[in-house]
Amino acid sequence: MKLIEAKHYQDMSQKAARFIIEKVNRLPAPVLGLATGGTPLATYQCLREDHENNGTSYKHVYTVNLDEYVGVAPDDNNSYTYYMKKQLFDHIDIPPSHTHLPDGMAEDLEAECRRYESLIERLGGVDLQLLGLGLNGHIGFNEPGTPFSSETHTVELTDSTREANARYFDSLSSVPSQAVTMGISTIMRSKQILLLVSGAKKADILAKLLSEEPNEDTPASLLKMHQDVVIIADSDALSIVKERGITY
Ligand code: F6R
Repeated sequence: MKLIEAKHYQDMSQKAARFIIEKVNRLPAPVLGLATGGTPLATYQCLREDHENNGTSYKHVYTVNLDEYVGVAPDDNNSYTYYMKKQLFDHIDIPPSHTHLPDGMAEDLEAECRRYESLIERLGGVDLQLLGLGLNGHIGFNEPGTPFSSETHTVELTDSTREANARYFDSLSSVPSQAVTMGISTIMRSKQILLLVSGAKKADILAKLLSEEPNEDTPASLLKMHQDVVIIADSDALSIVKERGITY
């Protein structure tokens, strides 16, 4: 794993955007794995600004998102489909048919999970997977204990994840209890992974993932088994790693 230190959230976001733009400019048909949540918001803002100011084109880019809530319609403003449109897709020139998220409204969720795996395979796999880090070490919605071998599947969200996401909903009770997520094995098949970590709240879990041997109780620690992971973390997120002199 390669660790890039950023000064603060904005610096992390600019570095992440530059990383993504380099792939977009270099590859003939890049497949980007994208994440939602608070962490990548300013990264997407940097991509929007770069598209507007420098004309970086996404006509040749394909995207697959990590996850989507079950039972939330795509046009609902709490869906991840809506988030992606609002934060990125509606502002760049990517063809809508190139953008993909799991369908959380599918009647047969198992079939939907299989369809999503085949779709990623048909696209030739993910070139760069962007990840945020859950407070309990989850990646995508792969909560502690998710098997290493998991592919796209339906999950029951833990109370801590629902509480962390409640800020986007009217109340905790309206946060969905299930989601469809790429599995650990799906994520590990990406050619390269970019993990973004920001803020003092994430300092503990970042220290844990860097110091532990890969184990399923801290899903993000399994990233150590991937050959090409880049972490961009800001100084608040790195505070405990530095305090304890953790090497990895
Ligand atoms: C989002 C996702 C989640 C988040 C994680 C961190 O698509 O899959 O794993 O990346 O929960 O969320 P934030 O960035 O809000 O702290």
